[in-house]
Formats: sequence, C-alpha cells, structure tokens
Amino acid sequence: MSERTLVLCKPDAVRRGVIGEILGRFERRGFVLLAGELRTVDGDLADRHYAEHLERDFYPGLKAFITGGPVFAFVLEGPDGTIAAVREMMGKTNSIVAAPGTIRGDFGIDGRENLIHGSDGPESAAREIALWFPSLV
Ligand code: RTP
Ligand code: MG
Repeated sequence: MSERTLVLCKPDAVRRGVIGEILGRFERRGFVLLAGELRTVDGDLADRHYAEHLERDFYPGLKAFITGGPVFAFVLEGPDGTIAAVREMMGKTNSIVAAPGTIRGDFGIDGRENLIHGSDGPESAAREIALWFPSLV
C-alpha cells in the first residue's frame, strides 16, 4: 500500500533559499518525489487550497502571505503513514513551539511564515493533489 501527499515550500522558504534543504530531508528519509514545480499562487488558488480556512480571522493574512511570492509545490509518495510522517517532520504550526529537529523548529520562529504546508489527511491529500497536479490523478 502507498500514500501520496502534497507539500508546499511556502514563500518564506523560497525567499530564504532553503527549498533544497527541506526537500533533501524528505529525499534522505526515502520518500519518492513524483512531481515538483515553482508556482505563483493567485487569489483563486489560495482560496481553493485553504478552503477550510476561508472564514477564519487569520485568513486575510495567510492569503497575503501565500500569494506574496512563489511557492515550491511537490508531491511525495511512500508507504501507508506517509501523510502523517511528513506532518511530523514539519512540526507544530507555530514555529516558535515546533520541536527542534522538525522543519519549522529548525528553520523558523514565526506563527504564520512557517515555511511548509503538508496535507493533513488522506482526503485533503487527494483533494490537494488534484488541485495542484491534476495530471497525477
Ligand atoms: P498548513 O495547512 O499550511 O500545512 O499548516 P497547518 O495545518 O499546520 O496549520 P493550519 O491550522 O491549517 O493553518 C494554515 C496556515 O495558516 C497560517 N496560520 N496563521 N493564528 C494565525 O495567525 C495563524 N494560524 C495559522 C499558518 O501559515 C498555517 O500554517
Ligand atoms: Mg492545515
């Protein structure tokens, strides 16, 4: 059995030049890279990607951030458990409380500009992969 997940290096990660280090962690772990592309997120893609957050008070700031520069979007594949393992490697949402050894805990201190997105379950992974890389579906 295998699982796929959608990962974004957010604009802060691209701006700071740490995409290679982030992707390298997943490659070293053994996940297979199925697709990857530098993309600029427009307002429509932001709204569709973060559909569950549209009504949240933090969404306007999140939208400005995620559309504010290119992201590096990629799809990883691995065994069952891959989606959760990638989330563990990312660390907690707010980088200041993310554990050392995680991507957010090693590369940042901010609550919003937290370097990376990863699908949070099988349904969101399927939805997000179809949204970002329809050719994989
Ligand atoms: P993501 O969806 O980007 O992988 O992050 P996540 O699951 O860890 O966190 P989520 O709750 O889905 O939030 C999405 C992104 O919104 C920004 N955020 N800002 N209170 C705030 O100002 C706030 N809370 C969340 C972060 O960029 C977060 O990753
Ligand atoms: Mg999320």
